Amino acid sequence: METTPDGGLRAAEDRARELEERIAAEPGAFRILTGDRPTGPLHLGHYFGTLANRVRLQRAGVELFVLVADYQVLTDRDVAERLDEHVEGLVADYLAAGIDPSTATIFRHSAVPALNQLMLPFLSLVSIAELNRNPTVKDEIASSRQASVSGLMFTYPVHQAADILFCKANLVPVGKDQLPHQEITRTIARRFNERYAPVFPVPDALLSAAPSLLGTDGQKMSKSRGNAIALSAGPDETARLIRRAVTDDDRHITYAPDTRPQVSTLVRIAALCQDRDPHAVAAEIADGGAAALKKVVTDSVNEFLRPIRARRAELTADRTHLRRVLAEGEKRANAIADRTLEEVRAAMAS
Ligand code: TRP
Repeated sequence: METTPDGGLRAAEDRARELEERIAAEPGAFRILTGDRPTGPLHLGHYFGTLANRVRLQRAGVELFVLVADYQVLTDRDVAERLDEHVEGLVADYLAAGIDPSTATIFRHSAVPALNQLMLPFLSLVSIAELNRNPTVKDEIASSRQASVSGLMFTYPVHQAADILFCKANLVPVGKDQLPHQEITRTIARRFNERYAPVFPVPDALLSAAPSLLGTDGQKMSKSRGNAIALSAGPDETARLIRRAVTDDDRHITYAPDTRPQVSTLVRIAALCQDRDPHAVAAEIADGGAAALKKVVTDSVNEFLRPIRARRAELTADRTHLRRVLAEGEKRANAIADRTLEEVRAAMAS
């Protein structure tokens, strides 16, 4: 487990640079597992934070497994509402963003029984004290809408180890909040290999370089706060959200994330969409004030999302196709999970 005061952040950053070089040299040596909870549409924060990176790595030749983490929805709520709708929406977001289902394996927890079965032996490999120390779980417990903490909330990082290890993924692209989970996965892989037989790779976290995108109010971007621009939102909804965005009194627009978080968030959104330096974008608006800034942001986002939205509309019009993509991914995931579970049984029995 991580013991350094920064939670191993510096080490993870150094490691990410090293990994990027190895990926560029030998993409075929890597298998990525990544995923999302199906709780609502993906937004611009997801796009620039992780989707674009997945697409980049897939195009570079890395094999991609994408998990629709439906059982993980139940960590902080009693029931997963409108699950089918959210699952289909998520698959549509993935494909619209450019994930290629002909080489990516897209699947749900609930459709791959052997994956879930790995959780039992894995639970035996970690202590309650180790689970208790996980800062991300602590934060989630603090902001949970439930009156009490479920056993799943407490143990889902172990389930996540099963998500990653069932397919023997060796690379997990993550934001820094996921580093503690990644450490648990590595611990479980190591301990299983030591206690029984060398079955699992010890997967690396690939920390994403981009700092996370704030919402239109300068707070953490999230659907429930109403400050997130969904990939599926129309141009009018986008304009409305940006019109309501929080700015400040200084008419001179600059990019200064530390001192002007709200204005800088808007500048950064426009810069990401235009693939330009945020300082250049701010300098161009200069004394135009919040109104000019918001116009630039709205136009940039709508322009950038136009092709993604068009693809998404086509995809959601053909639900059979989305269902087929999942069915094929799940068939593949099941074959792999069954094989891994067999190896685990054999290792534990001998
Ligand atoms: N915890 C991730 C999230 O909330 C989703 C997830 C589930 C995941 N299993 C995973 C991510 C395995 C990476 C690897 O977004």
